[in-house]
Order: sequence, then structure tokens, then C-alpha cells
Amino acid sequence: MKNKVVIITGGSSGIGLALAEKFGSEGSKVLITGRNQESLEKAVTALREKGITISAFQADVSKEADNKAMAEAAIQQYGTIDILINNAGVSMRALFTEVDLAVVRSVMDINFYGAVYATRYCLPEIIKNKGSVIGISSIAGFRGLPGRTGYSASKFALNGFLEVLRTELLKTGVHVLTACPGFTASNIRMRALTKDGSAQGKSPRVEENMMTASECAGHIYKAVVKRKRTLILTGQGKFTVWLNKLWPSLADKLVYNIMAREPE
Ligand SMILES: NC(=O)c1ccc[n+]([C@@H]2O[C@H](COP(=O)([O-])OP(=O)(O)OC[C@H]3O[C@@H](n4cnc5c(N)ncnc54)[C@H](OP(=O)(O)O)[C@@H]3O)[C@@H](O)[C@H]2O)c1
Repeated sequence: MKNKVVIITGGSSGIGLALAEKFGSEGSKVLITGRNQESLEKAVTALREKGITISAFQADVSKEADNKAMAEAAIQQYGTIDILINNAGVSMRALFTEVDLAVVRSVMDINFYGAVYATRYCLPEIIKNKGSVIGISSIAGFRGLPGRTGYSASKFALNGFLEVLRTELLKTGVHVLTACPGFTASNIRMRALTKDGSAQGKSPRVEENMMTASECAGHIYKAVVKRKRTLILTGQGKFTVWLNKLWPSLADKLVYNIMAREPE
């Protein structure tokens, strides 16, 4: 990964920030994006202090023009793009009977269309370099989770998009990875959108019991180096995907019971 140019969307927090640190410490030149300029600057300062080559570009993945500008900024700064990590994402927590449909649309715009736009504008350089496109999907992209209709749908859509992309690019030497973390400690649950679009503000799960963002990033890094097709993380995540294939009606009941334990 030495001297590879890596774009990480949503690189100012959680898994994206940990990926920036991992790729950067292996010698890659990193460009991170996010909506909040202050968080981006904080991340860049902290990682530069560790000797990492990194810059930030303020961009909202749900806006097509921002993605075009992001790709242009990376090419201007580093000369090319080798790897795109479609990581920016938001979650939601509301029952479908109650949710404002604008929440579902917003989650799709960020988690699905964000990846589509970013990939479109980075792909010409990635094809030239026989590089990688990575989508940070989720176990929720294999098995729907209650209270997260829009989120699960966005990750199922992302998985389908990446599968087709991989197949279309089969003869080009481009690598496409669908990376599916299980529950990972980050800000995602704090920022998850509730039924009216406001942030949840707290996590309904015990974050301390989860995989850390840096462990998650380490697994994703290895999968990129090995040019793997799919990465499914955590024991619980692997079991869920396996059970859902084998016995989906039982998975419905187990998932219901597990998620019903969340407060409220
Ligand atoms: N943590 C988990 O348990 C878990 C499990 C499975 C999959 N994932 C996936 O992992 C990815 C990273 O999540 P995380 O857990 O690290 O969450 P996080 O700590 O909340 O970080 C999310 C990052 O995405 C950025 N972002 C959000 N909306 C954006 C937008 N419209 N445009 C550009 N950047 C945006 C955020 O910055 P700004 O808010 O400043 O824009 C932030 O940098 C997501 O795709 C998520 O679905 C997470």
C-alpha cells in the first residue's frame, strides 16, 4: 500500500478514521471527506502528528457535484486515485409505521447514492491503476434489522451495486470488496436518525462490548491487500448471515427477539 492514493469518504470518525490511520501508517497517501470541517481538521491534525500523509476535503456524499469535486481534488493533490473506500454512512432507528419517509430517503441518499456517485467519478483513475473499490456495507446488508428499514435497504442496494460492478469489471483487473462490519464501537448509533430525523443522541447498545474501529480497520486493510471479494466480520455477524441463508424463518424470530431487547 506504500504510496497508493486512498480516498476514504466519511473519514473523520469511527471506522473511516481508523482506516485513514491504518492505510496512512502503511505508507498510503490519504484523502478523507466528511461534512463537518472542524471534525476533518481535528482528524488531519491528529494523523499528521503520527507522520501520516493526509489531507481533507469537505464533501457531502449525497451531493453528486461534491463527489466530482472530491475526485478532482485527489487527482490535483496526489496525481491519481488507486483506492476508493465508500465508508460515509448514517444509520436510523425507527419503526417503519412511524418513520418520516424523508429519513428513509436521506439514508438511501448517503449510504447508497453516495457510493454510486463517488465510485463513478473515481473509477477512471482506479481502472488505469487496476486499483480497488471498497464498499463498507453491513451485516444489515445481508439480513434486515428491525427499526432500520432504510439502513438495511441501503446496504442491500450497496451489495447489489458492488456485485454488478465487480462482474462488469472482471476483465479490467479492478478489485471490488464488499466489507461488512458487525457491531463496531463508533458514533454511528449516537448519530442515527430517529423517526422525525433528529439524532438519537445515545447508543441503545453497549459500545464497550463491540469490536473496536481500529480492529475493524485492520481486517478491512488485510482484505484489500489480499484483494478479497467479501469480508464478513464478528462471530455474531457470521452466524447471522449463515443462519439467514440456511433457515430464514428462524432468523426472523431470533433477530426480532434480539433487537426487541434494545431499550425503547
Ligand atoms: N459502527 C458499526 O457498528 C457499523 C456496522 C456496520 C457497518 N458500519 C458502516 O461503517 C461506516 C462508517 O460508520 P461508523 O460506524 O464509523 O460511523 P461514524 O463514527 O458515525 O462515522 C461516520 C462518518 O461518515 C461521515 N458522514 C456521514 N454522512 C456523510 C455525508 N453525507 N457525506 C460525507 N460524510 C458523511 C461522518 O462525518 P460528517 O458527519 O461530518 O459528515 C463520519 O466521518 C458506515 O457506512 C456504516 O454504515 C458501521
